[in-house]
Amino acid sequence: MGFGFVEIGSVTPLPQPGNPKPRVFRLPELDAVINRYGFNSHGVDAVAANLAAFRQREAAGMGAGLGSSQTPSAPADGAAPSGRVGVNLGKNKASDDAAGDYAIGAAKLGRFADYLVINVSSPNTPGLRALQGRRELERLVRRCQAARDAAGPWGAVGPPPVLVKVAPDLTEADKADIAMVALRTGVDGLIVSNTTLARPKDVADHPTGDEVGGLSGRPLFEPSTAVLRDMYRLTKGRMPIIGVGGVSSGQDAYAKIRAGASLVEIYSSLAYGGPAVVPRMKRELAACLRRDGFDSVAAAVGADHRKQS
Ligand SMILES: Cc1cc2nc3c(=O)[nH]c(=O)nc-3n(C[C@H](O)[C@H](O)[C@H](O)COP(=O)(O)O)c2cc1C
Repeated sequence: MGFGFVEIGSVTPLPQPGNPKPRVFRLPELDAVINRYGFNSHGVDAVAANLAAFRQREAAGMGAGLGSSQTPSAPADGAAPSGRVGVNLGKNKASDDAAGDYAIGAAKLGRFADYLVINVSSPNTPGLRALQGRRELERLVRRCQAARDAAGPWGAVGPPPVLVKVAPDLTEADKADIAMVALRTGVDGLIVSNTTLARPKDVADHPTGDEVGGLSGRPLFEPSTAVLRDMYRLTKGRMPIIGVGGVSSGQDAYAKIRAGASLVEIYSSLAYGGPAVVPRMKRELAACLRRDGFDSVAAAVGADHRKQS
């Protein structure tokens, strides 16, 4: 489909059904989605088996173009280039040991992952977002990093990077705390952002706008990009950031990149637009970069900050 990488999850340690249905709602007039899935997951063992089989198929030359962990194979002539798979970790609803849950995920899935995500920002698991607090987050990240390291040996390439995925609904103090913990613990990157609990006026006025859950899609673009911009500034541009939230065009992706994103993800716009959005977005992004004189995405990362300073 033209993606550079794919992220799967969130995966919980034990299987769990998630919230009762209905739990996902389309607001097509607003290009938005509200979901309260609540981490429906087959659990880490099932996911490990799937990923193991997948990596094996790939090693045998029958894969769908995904590289073995951190060593994407060179594309054969005419073959699609290899991609990378990130594995996003969550906690079980009934667990009272959140750090232990993420550690299980890191230990069991790290060896199949090109990167791991500590998702502390889903609004649909009670108490999850409180893990973004300074003390909790630092404890959590260190425990996860230790569990990942202990699951080695990792060889020359080293273990997979660990990223933290944050909410868009953060106070100034929250953002400063997260940036400080990220820099201090040596987290490898941030993902900004998850869905929002906010309901902008057009969403609040929509017949489906009062459903409980996280809002994604177009109405999330501005708030999530503002948080991305803040996190890039607070981490002094030293930390790779994956920008996500309301991206449906190359112009949107370009705005995330200029605000500080090194990589961009989409979810809701793929649900609405299907696979055709990918080549369109890439064409539009390339045109934006050319117009402004950038010869690569990397050259444009954080450009807005340089303009202002
Ligand atoms: C139906 C649905 C399920 C989601 N499930 C997860 C999840 O399990 N873990 C996670 O980190 N984010 C989850 N998200 C959030 C997305 O990964 C993304 O951060 C958010 O939707 C904003 O991007 P978008 O506006 O392109 O959809 C989910 C989003 C949707 C719409």
